[in-house]
Amino acid sequence: MSIRSAHEGDLPEILDLDRKAFPDDPYPYFVLRQYFDGYSDRILVLDDGKHLHGYVLFVTTSDGSVCWVLSLAISTERRGRGLGRRLMLEVMRQSRQERVHEVRLTVEPANTAAIMLYESLGLSAEDGVRRDYFGPGEDRLLMSLKL
Ligand SMILES: CC(C)(COP(=O)(O)OP(=O)(O)OC[C@H]1O[C@@H](n2cnc3c(N)ncnc32)[C@H](O)[C@@H]1OP(=O)(O)O)[C@@H](O)C(=O)NCCC(=O)NCCS
Repeated sequence: MSIRSAHEGDLPEILDLDRKAFPDDPYPYFVLRQYFDGYSDRILVLDDGKHLHGYVLFVTTSDGSVCWVLSLAISTERRGRGLGRRLMLEVMRQSRQERVHEVRLTVEPANTAAIMLYESLGLSAEDGVRRDYFGPGEDRLLMSLKL
């Protein structure tokens, strides 16, 4: 399973991964498309040569100081095999190489699997739950790690 930057032809599979991982609130296709147009090297995919099994989408602030991990998803059947960790480690490796100071992300407070993954990588949520972070009723934990 290799990690590589996304190609245009990957967009339908990425969309499918996203819809299965976030059935209540997937990215609209046009958002993913426009993100790809601007930042294709900031979408990393896990490719077994035939299919994609996960993706991570991240962005670095314009001053180059903070990397925001905006989305991470592994296909249902491949979870629990270290793939989410691999994608996150690659984002952190690239961020260190670019001398980014901090990695940040948000996560649903009830998403234990994701929180355990991020904590195992050293991220922590110092400010507790941020109420209505993504609008009414959409609370999130803000997690971060100084690199
Ligand atoms: C969260 C997600 C990306 C984790 O990916 P994954 O490939 O299954 O995770 P990994 O196998 O790399 O696990 C790494 C660590 O995460 C934690 N973890 C993963 N799944 C877990 C689970 N079901 N319960 C508790 N901890 C879990 C463990 O600490 C694990 O380390 P360990 O294997 O040494 O115990 C995956 O479950 C997913 O795609 N979920 C749906 C989308 C989502 O919630 N994305 C995150 C949004 S913020």
